[in-house]
Amino acid sequence: MKNKDTADSFCLYYTFNYAKGVLLLFIYRIALRDIERKVREMAKKIASEKLDEEDGSIVIDADEEQATIDDLPGVGPATAEKLREAGFEELLAIAVMSPNELAEQAELGEAVSSKIIQGAKKMANIGGFVSGNKLLERRKEVQKLTSGSAALDELLGGGFETQAIVEVYGEFGSGKTQIGHQLAVNTILPSEQGGFDGEIFYIDTEDTFRPERIAQMAEAVGLDPSVVLDRIHVARAYNSAHQMLLVDEIKKLSKNIDVKLIIVDSLTSHFRAEYVGRGMLATRQQKLNRHLKELKQLSDVHNALVLVTNQVMSKPDAMWGDPTKAIGGHIVGHASTFRLYLRKSKGGRRIARLVDSPNLPEGEAVFTVTAEGLRD
Ligand SMILES: Nc1ncnc2c1ncn2[C@@H]1O[C@H](COP(=O)(O)OP(=O)(O)O)[C@@H](O)[C@H]1O
Ligand SMILES: [Mg+2]
Repeated sequence: MKNKDTADSFCLYYTFNYAKGVLLLFIYRIALRDIERKVREMAKKIASEKLDEEDGSIVIDADEEQATIDDLPGVGPATAEKLREAGFEELLAIAVMSPNELAEQAELGEAVSSKIIQGAKKMANIGGFVSGNKLLERRKEVQKLTSGSAALDELLGGGFETQAIVEVYGEFGSGKTQIGHQLAVNTILPSEQGGFDGEIFYIDTEDTFRPERIAQMAEAVGLDPSVVLDRIHVARAYNSAHQMLLVDEIKKLSKNIDVKLIIVDSLTSHFRAEYVGRGMLATRQQKLNRHLKELKQLSDVHNALVLVTNQVMSKPDAMWGDPTKAIGGHIVGHASTFRLYLRKSKGGRRIARLVDSPNLPEGEAVFTVTAEGLRD
C-alpha cells in the first residue's frame, strides 16, 4: 500500500514537472517570437529610412499620418483584403465609387460599401481646383513624339502628345501594331530627333510584339537595336484581369523607370472575348473605363504618352452593329484624347483620319509602312 502511494506521488511529481516544462517552453517561444517581430520591424524601419536618404528625396507624409484603407470605419482585415483584391489600394479610388459599383467590384454588401465610401470621402485627399495658369504651366510640359511620317505628325499638330491617351483603331492589318512598334523605337531617340529619350512599357495581348521588327526599325533610325530592346519592357497579358493588373505593375515599376510611352496592343481584344452578349456589356464598359482611367493617370503623373489599339470589324456584323465603329464604343472614345482611324489604301499606303481631338481640326494623312518603319 505504502509502495503504491509512493509510486503515485512520484508519478504526480514527474507529471507536474513535465507540464511545467512544457508551459515554460511555450512561454519562451511566444516571447522569442515577439522579439523576432520587433527586430524585423526595426530592420524594416532602418531599411526604409536608408532608402529615403539614398534617393535624396524628402518624404513629407509620415506613414502614421496618412490614412489607408485599413483605417476606414467598418473595414477589418477581411474587407481590406477584398478591397485590395479588387484593386482598391487608395482611399480616393473608393471615395469616387457609387455604393453599388463598389459592392459589385469588391464583392461586398451595399450597406457596407456605402459606409466605406462615406469614410473614404472624409479621409481621402481629394485634391482641389487649380488655376488656369497652373494648367497652362502643365500643358507647357507636353512633349511631342515623331511617328517617322511628317504627314502623320502634322495631322496630330506636331506629333503624338504626352499627357494623353491616343486610340488607334482600324481593321486587321491596317497598321496599328506597326505604329506601336515605331513609337516605341522613336521614344528612345533624343528630343532633337523628335524622341523622348525615355523608356517603354508594352502590354501585348495578341502576341504580336516582335523584337526583330523593333531591331529593324531601330537600325533604320541609327540606334543600336540592343540598347533599344533593353529599354522596352514587354509583358504578355493573358486575360483582361491580368491586363489590368499589369497597369498596377507599371505604377510600381515606374518609380525606378523613366516611362515615357505605354502601349496597350490591343486594349479591347480580351474584354471583347470575355464579356460576350448584351448582358455583359455594362460590366465590360465599367472595367474598360477603370482601366483607361488608370492609364490616363499614369500619363499625367509621368508626362507620358499612352497608345491603345482597338480593332473594328471589316465585315458588317449584326452583333456589333456599325462595322466602322470601334469596339468599346463611346467609353473608349471619351477616355482617349486623340482618336486615329486607320484604313488600308492602294499600294500599301495607309490613311489615318483624326476623329476626335480637343484642340485640332479633323483631317487625314497618308503614310506608308516600309521595311524601315513608318514613312511618308
Ligand atoms: N517588315 C515589314 N516591312 C514592310 N511592311 C511590313 C513589315 N511588317 C509589317 N508590315 C506591314 O504591316 C502590316 C501589318 O500591320 P499591323 O500593324 O500588324 O496591323 P494591325 O492593325 O492588325 O495591328 C502588314 O500587312 C504589312 O503591310
Ligand atoms: Mg495588331
